[in-house]
Amino acid sequence: ARLVVLVSGSGTNLQALLDAHDDPAYGARVVAVGADRDGIEGLGRAERAGVPTFVERLGDAPDRAAWDASLTAAVAAHRPDWVVLAGFMKLVGPTFLTTFDQRVVNTHPALSPAFPGMHGPADALAHGVKVSGATLFVVDAGVDTGVIVAQVPVPVLEDDDVAALHERIKVAERRMLVDAVGRLARDGLVVEGRTARFGRTADV
Ligand code: GRF
Repeated sequence: ARLVVLVSGSGTNLQALLDAHDDPAYGARVVAVGADRDGIEGLGRAERAGVPTFVERLGDAPDRAAWDASLTAAVAAHRPDWVVLAGFMKLVGPTFLTTFDQRVVNTHPALSPAFPGMHGPADALAHGVKVSGATLFVVDAGVDTGVIVAQVPVPVLEDDDVAALHERIKVAERRMLVDAVGRLARDGLVVEGRTARFGRTADV
Protein backbone atom coordinates (compact mmCIF):
# COMPACT_ATOMS: atom_id res chain seq x y z
CA ALA A 1 0.00 0.00 0.00
CA ARG A 2 1.14 3.53 -0.76
CA LEU A 3 1.27 5.96 2.18
CA VAL A 4 1.51 9.74 2.00
CA VAL A 5 2.42 11.13 5.43
CA LEU A 6 1.78 14.75 6.45
CA VAL A 7 3.85 16.34 9.23
CA SER A 8 4.38 19.72 10.92
CA GLY A 9 7.14 18.97 13.42
CA SER A 10 9.81 16.64 14.65
CA GLY A 11 8.45 13.66 12.70
CA THR A 12 9.29 10.87 15.13
CA ASN A 13 6.04 9.11 14.18
CA LEU A 14 7.02 9.46 10.51
CA GLN A 15 10.45 8.03 11.37
CA ALA A 16 8.83 4.96 12.90
CA LEU A 17 6.96 4.36 9.61
CA LEU A 18 10.15 4.94 7.61
CA ASP A 19 11.95 2.42 9.82
CA ALA A 20 9.20 -0.15 9.21
CA HIS A 21 8.61 0.29 5.49
CA ASP A 22 11.79 -1.35 4.13
CA ASP A 23 10.48 -4.75 5.20
CA PRO A 24 8.29 -6.03 2.32
CA ALA A 25 6.22 -8.00 4.85
CA TYR A 26 5.11 -4.69 6.36
CA GLY A 27 2.90 -4.12 3.33
CA ALA A 28 3.09 -0.32 3.23
CA ARG A 29 5.60 2.20 1.90
CA VAL A 30 5.88 5.91 2.53
CA VAL A 31 5.88 7.26 -1.04
CA ALA A 32 5.88 10.97 -0.14
CA VAL A 33 5.93 13.29 2.87
CA GLY A 34 4.13 16.64 2.88
CA ALA A 35 4.25 19.54 5.32
CA ASP A 36 2.52 22.85 5.93
CA ARG A 37 5.81 24.59 6.76
CA ASP A 38 9.50 24.53 5.82
CA GLY A 39 12.53 23.78 7.90
CA ILE A 40 11.08 21.06 10.12
CA GLU A 41 12.86 17.91 11.18
CA GLY A 42 10.08 15.78 9.67
CA LEU A 43 11.08 16.93 6.16
CA GLY A 44 14.74 16.22 6.94
CA ARG A 45 13.84 12.67 7.99
CA ALA A 46 12.06 12.08 4.67
CA GLU A 47 14.95 13.52 2.66
CA ARG A 48 17.47 11.34 4.48
CA ALA A 49 15.30 8.31 3.69
CA GLY A 50 15.18 9.29 0.01
CA VAL A 51 11.42 9.93 0.09
CA PRO A 52 10.08 12.86 -2.00
CA THR A 53 8.70 15.84 -0.07
CA PHE A 54 6.40 18.77 -0.73
CA VAL A 55 5.35 21.84 1.26
CA GLU A 56 1.94 23.55 1.03
CA ARG A 57 1.88 26.69 3.20
CA LEU A 58 -1.52 28.08 4.14
CA GLY A 59 -0.05 31.60 3.98
CA ASP A 60 0.88 31.14 0.30
CA ALA A 61 -2.73 30.39 -0.70
CA PRO A 62 -5.29 33.14 -1.34
CA ASP A 63 -7.69 31.47 1.10
CA ARG A 64 -8.31 28.26 2.98
CA ALA A 65 -10.32 26.66 0.13
CA ALA A 66 -7.44 27.25 -2.29
CA TRP A 67 -4.99 25.75 0.22
CA ASP A 68 -7.31 22.75 0.65
CA ALA A 69 -7.35 22.28 -3.15
CA SER A 70 -3.58 22.54 -3.57
CA LEU A 71 -2.83 20.27 -0.61
CA THR A 72 -5.31 17.74 -2.05
CA ALA A 73 -3.65 17.91 -5.48
CA ALA A 74 -0.15 17.59 -4.01
CA VAL A 75 -1.16 14.47 -2.04
CA ALA A 76 -3.21 12.96 -4.91
CA ALA A 77 -0.21 13.24 -7.25
CA HIS A 78 1.39 10.44 -5.22
CA ARG A 79 -1.68 8.15 -5.55
CA PRO A 80 -1.93 7.16 -1.88
CA ASP A 81 -3.93 4.21 -0.63
CA TRP A 82 -3.81 5.82 2.83
CA VAL A 83 -2.97 9.31 4.02
CA VAL A 84 -1.41 9.41 7.49
CA LEU A 85 -1.46 12.65 9.49
CA ALA A 86 1.44 12.32 11.93
CA GLY A 87 1.71 15.48 13.98
CA PHE A 88 0.13 17.56 11.17
CA MET A 89 -1.04 20.70 12.96
CA LYS A 90 -3.70 21.91 10.49
CA LEU A 91 -7.27 20.80 9.96
CA VAL A 92 -7.64 19.38 6.47
CA GLY A 93 -10.51 20.78 4.41
CA PRO A 94 -13.65 19.42 2.74
CA THR A 95 -12.02 18.83 -0.67
CA PHE A 96 -9.29 16.80 1.00
CA LEU A 97 -11.80 14.72 2.97
CA THR A 98 -14.01 14.07 -0.06
CA THR A 99 -11.08 13.10 -2.27
CA PHE A 100 -9.53 10.68 0.25
CA ASP A 101 -12.86 9.57 1.72
CA GLN A 102 -12.31 7.29 4.78
CA ARG A 103 -8.65 6.87 3.82
CA VAL A 104 -7.15 9.58 6.05
CA VAL A 105 -6.00 8.62 9.55
CA ASN A 106 -4.57 10.79 12.29
CA THR A 107 -2.74 10.02 15.49
CA HIS A 108 -3.69 11.91 18.65
CA PRO A 109 -1.87 11.87 22.03
CA ALA A 110 -4.89 11.09 24.23
CA LEU A 111 -7.51 8.38 24.62
CA SER A 112 -10.38 9.67 22.49
CA PRO A 113 -13.05 10.79 23.04
CA ALA A 114 -11.24 12.40 26.00
CA PHE A 115 -9.12 15.49 25.41
CA PRO A 116 -9.45 16.39 21.73
CA GLY A 117 -7.48 19.33 20.35
CA MET A 118 -3.96 20.63 20.58
CA HIS A 119 -3.29 19.97 24.29
CA GLY A 120 -4.05 16.29 24.91
CA PRO A 121 -1.21 15.65 27.40
CA ALA A 122 -1.76 18.96 29.28
CA ASP A 123 -5.52 18.35 29.49
CA ALA A 124 -4.93 14.82 30.81
CA LEU A 125 -2.71 16.22 33.59
CA ALA A 126 -5.18 19.01 34.38
CA HIS A 127 -7.97 16.45 34.80
CA GLY A 128 -5.87 14.24 37.04
CA VAL A 129 -6.51 11.10 34.99
CA LYS A 130 -4.30 8.17 35.93
CA VAL A 131 -4.26 6.68 32.43
CA SER A 132 -4.00 8.46 29.11
CA GLY A 133 -2.63 7.20 25.81
CA ALA A 134 -2.83 7.59 22.07
CA THR A 135 -5.54 7.07 19.46
CA LEU A 136 -5.46 6.45 15.73
CA PHE A 137 -8.72 7.54 14.07
CA VAL A 138 -10.28 8.05 10.66
CA VAL A 139 -10.30 11.80 10.04
CA ASP A 140 -13.68 13.50 9.68
CA ALA A 141 -14.67 17.17 9.67
CA GLY A 142 -14.41 17.52 13.46
CA VAL A 143 -11.39 18.00 15.71
CA ASP A 144 -10.17 14.53 16.75
CA THR A 145 -13.72 13.15 16.52
CA GLY A 146 -13.29 10.43 13.89
CA VAL A 147 -14.00 6.72 14.19
CA ILE A 148 -11.38 5.02 16.36
CA VAL A 149 -9.03 2.57 14.61
CA ALA A 150 -6.57 1.76 17.43
CA GLN A 151 -5.73 2.92 20.93
CA VAL A 152 -2.95 2.32 23.43
CA PRO A 153 -3.08 3.16 27.16
CA VAL A 154 -0.18 4.93 28.89
CA PRO A 155 0.06 5.51 32.67
CA VAL A 156 0.19 9.05 34.06
CA LEU A 157 2.84 9.20 36.81
CA GLU A 158 2.68 11.37 39.92
CA ASP A 159 5.58 13.65 39.05
CA ASP A 160 4.75 14.01 35.35
CA ASP A 161 4.90 17.37 33.65
CA VAL A 162 3.46 17.88 30.17
CA ALA A 163 6.73 17.13 28.40
CA ALA A 164 7.39 13.92 30.36
CA LEU A 165 3.86 12.63 29.83
CA HIS A 166 3.85 13.51 26.12
CA GLU A 167 7.23 11.78 25.64
CA ARG A 168 5.94 8.59 27.33
CA ILE A 169 2.79 8.73 25.19
CA LYS A 170 4.85 9.18 22.03
CA VAL A 171 6.86 6.01 22.67
CA ALA A 172 3.62 4.00 22.79
CA GLU A 173 2.02 6.09 20.03
CA ARG A 174 4.77 5.25 17.52
CA ARG A 175 4.36 1.50 18.13
CA MET A 176 0.58 1.75 17.84
CA LEU A 177 0.86 3.77 14.61
CA VAL A 178 3.27 1.37 12.93
CA ASP A 179 1.21 -1.64 13.97
CA ALA A 180 -2.17 -0.17 12.98
CA VAL A 181 -1.03 1.34 9.68
CA GLY A 182 0.50 -2.02 8.74
CA ARG A 183 -2.80 -3.69 9.47
CA LEU A 184 -4.71 -1.07 7.47
CA ALA A 185 -2.40 -1.66 4.54
CA ARG A 186 -2.50 -5.45 4.68
CA ASP A 187 -6.05 -6.11 5.84
CA GLY A 188 -8.08 -2.98 5.01
CA LEU A 189 -10.59 -1.26 7.28
CA VAL A 190 -14.35 -1.62 7.55
CA VAL A 191 -16.20 1.29 9.15
CA GLU A 192 -19.76 0.71 10.35
CA GLY A 193 -21.29 3.67 12.15
CA ARG A 194 -18.93 4.64 14.98
CA THR A 195 -17.05 1.34 14.84
CA ALA A 196 -14.07 0.32 12.75
CA ARG A 197 -12.42 -3.06 12.38
CA PHE A 198 -9.53 -4.30 10.29
CA GLY A 199 -10.69 -6.37 7.35
CA ARG A 200 -12.63 -6.10 4.11
CA THR A 201 -16.39 -5.82 3.66
CA ALA A 202 -16.60 -9.30 2.16
CA ASP A 203 -14.98 -10.93 5.25
CA VAL A 204 -18.10 -11.16 7.39
C1 GRF B 1 2.38 13.38 18.36
O1 GRF B 1 2.22 13.09 19.73
C2 GRF B 1 1.07 13.64 17.69
O2 GRF B 1 0.05 12.81 18.10
C3 GRF B 1 0.84 15.05 18.13
O3 GRF B 1 2.09 15.67 18.00
C4 GRF B 1 3.10 14.70 18.15
C5 GRF B 1 3.94 14.70 16.91
O4 GRF B 1 5.19 14.14 17.14
N1 GRF B 1 -0.23 15.67 17.41
P1 GRF B 1 6.21 13.85 15.96
O5 GRF B 1 6.30 15.06 15.06
O6 GRF B 1 5.74 12.62 15.24
O7 GRF B 1 7.53 13.61 16.66
